[in-house]
Amino acid sequence: MSAQKEQHSDAARDMWETTNDDYEKFRPSHDKAGVRVLLEHLGLVDNVNQTNGTTPTDDVSPTTYDVLDVGAGTGKCTRVIKDVLGEDARIVALDPVAGMIRQLKANVPGVDAFVGPCENIPLPDNSVRAVVSSQSFHFYANEAALREVHRVLIPGGKFGINFTGDDEKYPLVHGVYELIRKYMYPECPEYYLNPLLDTSWKNCFDAAPLFTPLQEHIFPWENQQTLPDAESVVKLFMTYSAIAREPDVRKECAEKMLKLLTTDPAIAQNGNPLEVPRLNALYWCTKKVQ
Ligand SMILES: C[S@@+](CC[C@H](N)C(=O)[O-])C[C@H]1O[C@@H](n2cnc3c(N)ncnc32)[C@H](O)[C@@H]1O
Repeated sequence: MSAQKEQHSDAARDMWETTNDDYEKFRPSHDKAGVRVLLEHLGLVDNVNQTNGTTPTDDVSPTTYDVLDVGAGTGKCTRVIKDVLGEDARIVALDPVAGMIRQLKANVPGVDAFVGPCENIPLPDNSVRAVVSSQSFHFYANEAALREVHRVLIPGGKFGINFTGDDEKYPLVHGVYELIRKYMYPECPEYYLNPLLDTSWKNCFDAAPLFTPLQEHIFPWENQQTLPDAESVVKLFMTYSAIAREPDVRKECAEKMLKLLTTDPAIAQNGNPLEVPRLNALYWCTKKVQ
């Protein structure tokens, strides 16, 4: 990992250690329709009968987890996974930021949760049917993390990646993203902000051929997030890791963002300036047995 990328990741984790309340309040819940489709691709939901697929098969031990949500944060995706799979699903969550895991435990009871990075998963070999990475893979798009995901998956287990891609064809998203780009660390990879525009996070899969080729499915959210006012939109975007910068830099960016949202005619002309349109960007692959 380059020094700049490492600095950026550390800054983001520090930011979320102190701003996890805003993260929980202003980040949207994941789109349930999108999470369901990902879980179908991972073989956990029967997409014909729309029934949950959490019954263990003969070759799966009763102690096997159905899903590991890695980089789970405050549990925004974990709770939707639980909602789709039902109360009996065996779910475990992992995140390196203790403050995020504290929020997750409060918000998603009944789920096992651990503090730690994907590069060092505290679970036994062959113990998880599917690993889900929700809006976080850019932080650990490296060989060490892929080896750990491979290790904990059962033979034939699947790895799913979900990005909640803000849709830059809408003026509000485009305007805010252009502003954030001016304030990002200069060498921070673009995929920290827009992993659909810069897909080089996929390169780690070529370096470590542990999985079948990544498949993808991209479609709009069924229920888009709307926020009550421009100040809330600023609070939302200021939880983004791309703007995990020094306090004075963040303050200047937040002020310019508020001005943009309240005065830019292209954004105002968009009708409702407070909707943040998103795409479900889903990717998945299967563990290769070596
Ligand atoms: C944008 S948040 C996404 C959180 C959550 N999955 C969601 O959808 O809201 C990115 C998360 O990745 C976590 N993260 C950062 N580095 C990580 C690593 N090396 N391994 C696992 N998670 C990591 C951060 O702590 C943060 O909670």
